Amino acid sequence: MSKELESAFTKLDDYTKLHSVNVQELAVLVAKIYGMNPADTEALKNAAKYHDIGKIFTPAEILLKQGKLTDKEFAIIKAHPVDGANLLKNLDQPQAYIDAALKHHEKLDGSGYPYKLTSKELPLDIRIITACDIYDALASARPYKNPLMYKEIKDILFKEVADGKLDRNVVSKVLAAGKHLKKEEIVRLYKDEKYMKYISPDVACDISDMIMKYGKVISPEEFKAMHKESGLMKDKGLAAPDFDTLDSIVKGISLAKNYYTHGIYGQGLGNKLHDIEM
Ligand SMILES: [Fe+2]
Repeated sequence: MSKELESAFTKLDDYTKLHSVNVQELAVLVAKIYGMNPADTEALKNAAKYHDIGKIFTPAEILLKQGKLTDKEFAIIKAHPVDGANLLKNLDQPQAYIDAALKHHEKLDGSGYPYKLTSKELPLDIRIITACDIYDALASARPYKNPLMYKEIKDILFKEVADGKLDRNVVSKVLAAGKHLKKEEIVRLYKDEKYMKYISPDVACDISDMIMKYGKVISPEEFKAMHKESGLMKDKGLAAPDFDTLDSIVKGISLAKNYYTHGIYGQGLGNKLHDIEM
């Protein structure tokens, strides 16, 4: 990777930097799910990392604005695909990176920007980066919004599919990759691999959403509301402890984990969990 490109990357604001790395991580997982060859995976990985590089030219006060953007501000943001593509071209980067920067806001039905391209001009690598980009934007906190829960992200992405804007197959794989990353995040938080490997990715998503949505302080009422909302609590009546410390959240995870593994995901799994605990 060229030094100039890496130095350009460091000029991005912290949100965009983190977003770029997240999109990269997600895209690599999607490539793996597709069984993509190593060369194509490497190209996709870099293309994903630098897709928003044009934002180094977008004024920080617009990128980090708390409220709704004006039409004029949005028009300035919309310059980043062309700015990024030009920068990558000037730095003699591969066409795949240039295309990703230029086309990642295009949609299959021609409703995207900057050129209103349509499906035949949007190959698989671009479709993957576009869907990963939207997934991470929805899943991340921004100065003006909280992260969305997995189920909300799923609904939004499939609405885009239904509207003919995103590729159904790609979206399914991006959601599978996102679920996998959420599980890894819970493993990191819970710091207990041997235990967590018995948790299904679906359950990990719900627990991760609970933490993301409520942060470090959560009341028993909120905990119950969250479970009601997720549809997984049903009528099982799990008693929530007081979620007012980080420790109690970990306890909550443990409770939820036992509840889910024993209660919903079958006696076999519950027994397995019991075995490794003894
Ligand atoms: Fe972008």
